Parts: sequence; C-alpha cells; structure tokens
Amino acid sequence: MLSGKQWITHNASGSRRVVVTKELPGDRWLRRLAEADCAVEMFMSPEILSMEEIAAAIGGRCDGAIGQLTETWGRDLFEALKAAGGRAYSNYAVGYNNVDVGAATELGIPVGNTPGVLTETTAQMAVALTFAAARRIAEADVFIRSGRFHGWLPTLFLGELLWRRTLGIVGAGRIGSAYARMMVEGHKMDLVYYDLQPNAALEQYVADYGEFLKQHGEQPVGCSRAGTIEEVFAAADVLSLHPPLDPTTRHLANAERLALMKSNAILINTSRGAVVDEAALVNHLRTHPDFRVGLDVFEDEPAMKPGLAELPNAVIVPHIASATSWTRQGMATLAATNVSAILLGYPVWQSADISPFLGDDPSTPLRAGPPRAAPSVVNARELGLPTFVR
Ligand code: DGY
Repeated sequence: MLSGKQWITHNASGSRRVVVTKELPGDRWLRRLAEADCAVEMFMSPEILSMEEIAAAIGGRCDGAIGQLTETWGRDLFEALKAAGGRAYSNYAVGYNNVDVGAATELGIPVGNTPGVLTETTAQMAVALTFAAARRIAEADVFIRSGRFHGWLPTLFLGELLWRRTLGIVGAGRIGSAYARMMVEGHKMDLVYYDLQPNAALEQYVADYGEFLKQHGEQPVGCSRAGTIEEVFAAADVLSLHPPLDPTTRHLANAERLALMKSNAILINTSRGAVVDEAALVNHLRTHPDFRVGLDVFEDEPAMKPGLAELPNAVIVPHIASATSWTRQGMATLAATNVSAILLGYPVWQSADISPFLGDDPSTPLRAGPPRAAPSVVNARELGLPTFVR
C-alpha cells in the first residue's frame, strides 16, 4: 500500500499492479484493467505528483502505469518502472511531449496515447474560442455582470464577422482538419494551411464542398497549402495552431510572425502553450487592441505570463478543450486498454478508427473478454510490436 498522500486501490486482489497518477472519469477503464487481472492504485488528489513521488508509487513491483500530461515522464521514471518489472505505460492524453519516448523505447517499454476521442471535442473548443474572441463574448459577459449595460448602442462591442474570410491552420492533422471543416463549412471560409505533409483528403473535401456550393448558386470556397508558415500568418483572418509540440514547433508563433498578422486577426491555440511565445503575445496584444486570441493552453501552465490575464482582447480557458464526459471517459478507456492489452501480450491496433474500443458489445471482434489489441502505441514500430490483423 502506498503511504502518505491520498491513494485508493481498485480490484485489490488483482495479480498485476498498475499505478494511475490521477483520478480518471467513468468506470469502463477500471473494468478493462480488472479484466486483465490488474489491481489499480490511483492518486485521488488534484495536486501534481513530483517525479520522486511517482517513482515512490511505482515502488519495487509495478506492471504498468498511466500518467498525465502534467508530469515529466523522462528516463529516470522509465528506469524506475522497468526496475519494478513494468512493461507498459500510457499517457492519458493524445499529446505526448511530456514523455521521453526515446528513453522508453531503449528500455523496451511501449508508450500509449489516446487519439481519436478528442478530435471533434477539441475542434469544437477551438471554434468556441474563435467566436468568443471574434464576438468579444468574455468581455461583454464581464461588462453586463458589472451593471454597465444601460441600453442597446450601435457601437457596443463591435467584433469581427468571419463569414467568407480566410482561415489559417498550422498543423492539418486530425484536430486541425476537423476544426478547418467546421469553420469552412459553417462559415464559408477559404482555407490556407501549413503542414509538413500535404493533406490530400482535406484538400479534396474542401474542393468537393466548393463544387457543392457552386451547384447551389453560391460562391465556392478554396483551399491551398502554403509553402511557408509566414504565408499563413500573413493571410489569415483567423489562425488556429494544431502542431505537436517539439523542438521545431516551440515558439512557432513568435514576435516576428505575430507582426506579419493582420491587425484585427484572431489567433487560437488549443495545442500546447509553448507553441506560442506567450511573452511576445502579451506585447502584441498590448500594442494591437483589435488583435484577439483564444487560448486553452499556456506556456508555463498552470501559470500565465505576466499581464495576459488583464488583457481584454484575450479569451482564456484552463486547458479544457477535451473536457467532455464522453471524451475524458474515452481517453481513460483507451489509456487503460493500452496498458491491459500490452500486459496480456496483444498486438497493436492499426486503424485511426478507435470506436471498437469504446463499446462493451461482446460481439465486436475485439471483445469476448478483454479487447485483444492495444488501441494506440506510439513506439510500436520501433519496438517491433505485432500489429492487429482482423
Ligand atoms: C491532450 O490529450 O493532449 C490534450 O491536451 C488533453 O486535453
């Protein structure tokens, strides 16, 4: 039993031991681990465990762990897990910039993540932040609550109409593409995107949608892949950031690139805080009062750079883009299934469609007992793990 802080154990009689560093929602994920004969020791307090506390929780015997994006899973922790007999780790997140995947791979530990259940949820939050910024919703909310609304005015809280304007995306992966489609379809925006890889499916989708609009007597919409990040910054009326955080994307939105943006543009970040040079952004917001941002993530999370919280042209929420019950329970199920399937020796799922993991229907190919695949393991290829074949 773990000492000190608040830990609870589920399925204490399980022969395997899995450590989970935060309380996760729902109970399907606990069933998945119980089906794999795992006792689950879960930290119940909202505070963030230090590396030493996590290593102490791993202790002398631990088969697997589920960790959080707020924790640094570096070589030391993976060595501690390995020394305790650990064979599986999953991040409770789709992003894994907090994990030293190279070290885990060298130690032979598979690293899972939770893609597929956050896509629409996160994209919807990016849309919500876009319109909160464009239509000044947070400012107006504060204004009316403070008793300053004395009647309708032609000039009260003038914002930006995004209809038929230009949408910029950096990172056209799953979430970036879902957001782009919501904005292009819903508001007839032209899309310009930057990604190292062309996204042919997204380009075709926008082209087909443009044809559909033409058939209905409307102007089509366009889509182009920019040759440089600068092009997207300069062209966008709304720019949404969706790259993974790595050394090449840290401070991608810096002072020089912000200076290229239109003075009344809107910048949205639901990816990772450090993709934006937040101090430079604070300066830019101060000197460009018509420029607006919607931020879900922060460079020094949970802290914000000095001055950001006071700026009326910033809409800020506390890293909740994936916070719907369905998504967070789905993330728990995927993380738990990553661990349970690896411990049971099952192969790794290859499809981007992870929906078979979310049901409890025993007739699906994965069921009849524990799911017989790990939904997403980011170092599966490097470790030579077998792939699931239907
Ligand atoms: C993730 O999963 O990477 C998200 O940031 C959690 O909301």
